[in-house]
Amino acid sequence: MRPTKELVIEHEAVLTVLQILDEISLRITEGNDININDLETLLDVMKVFVDRCHHGKEEKILFTALESAGIPREGGPVGVMLYEHDNGRRYISGMREAFERVKEGDKQAFKTFAANASDYTALMYAHIDKENNILYQMAETHLSDPMKIKLAQDFSSLQARETGNGSYEKYFKVIEQLKANYLKG
Ligand SMILES: [Fe+2]
Ligand SMILES: [Fe+2]
Repeated sequence: MRPTKELVIEHEAVLTVLQILDEISLRITEGNDININDLETLLDVMKVFVDRCHHGKEEKILFTALESAGIPREGGPVGVMLYEHDNGRRYISGMREAFERVKEGDKQAFKTFAANASDYTALMYAHIDKENNILYQMAETHLSDPMKIKLAQDFSSLQARETGNGSYEKYFKVIEQLKANYLKG
């Protein structure tokens, strides 16, 4: 499989996570009860699967390969992607902090959670679109075949390291389960 294809497949799963998060935020705004365990699961998916694993593959492996192919890390499209990853991390921290306050009984913190969630999903929809349509195309054009083979190998070691053995596939299943519970059709 082309290494960018693997990242595009992960994007599909991330898009589902964003839709679930939007649905949960809507339920919060409408004053409905929220399943705390599902929120905990979703936060883990965002931190481990989306950030450490997917963004890890991009930052530590793909962007480094692009740099060695002459595409600078600072400025340009890679610089923008790095900046957006950092913003995403801030929103995930914001959601996590609000969630901890909710667990301590502060129901008002749900609003802070929903505000961070909405900023996060808006950022990530646009981010994924740019990567699928611009950055990954650049990678396919600029990276040599041996580099692509090395990329695929490095991706697989990183995902085992960041998610734990066998857990990578489990994340896809967890996302599908949440999708079945929260999204219709
Ligand atoms: Fe990214
Ligand atoms: Fe990405």
